[in-house]
Amino acid sequence: MRGVLGVDVRMHKGTLYLRRAATAGLLGLGCAGSAPLYAADPTQPQISEGSAFEEQGGAQLYQAICQGCHMSEGQGAIGAGMYPALRQNPRLGSAAYPAYNVLHGRNGMPAFGKQLSDVQVADVVNYVRTHFDNHFTDAIGAADVSKLR
Ligand code: HEC
Repeated sequence: MRGVLGVDVRMHKGTLYLRRAATAGLLGLGCAGSAPLYAADPTQPQISEGSAFEEQGGAQLYQAICQGCHMSEGQGAIGAGMYPALRQNPRLGSAAYPAYNVLHGRNGMPAFGKQLSDVQVADVVNYVRTHFDNHFTDAIGAADVSKLR
């Protein structure tokens, strides 16, 4: 069960993982400053380095991380912040662009590089580039993601 601030606390293999569930967008709270795991700098919120995402596969990762801001159909949202649509987004044409954003963040989007493996980043990037009316079939691999770190 997620708390009001979208913070998901659970035990996994004896380790306590604290994870912001990226639902702030849905709750209209905006990205920055809405969860205690974020750093104070509102220009690029950070997720705690100690957290990690256990989800595997593009669909699961999208739902766990991206959907809270970019929405279930990739349509994006405008509210407390501006969450660009990933649906039919020509800027996904180069796989390096979304991969870099996921690794390093971008303005109001947090960096996820420390919480995701190269395979997880590749999977979620390949997912968004082949769903939501995007049809880019040149998949990115884990080795390519590694070079962008
Ligand atoms: C906490 C909210 C949040 C989450 C979670 C999030 N994003 Fe974002 N994302 C943003 C915001 C805000 C921007 C706009 C950044 C800017 O350019 O100012 C953005 C921008 C992007 C862009 C650039 C879009 C463009 O048209 O230039 C891509 C690609 C992207 N996100 C992919 C993802 C993926 C993939 C995930 C999941 C791994 C994800 N995002 C998770 C908030 C989020």
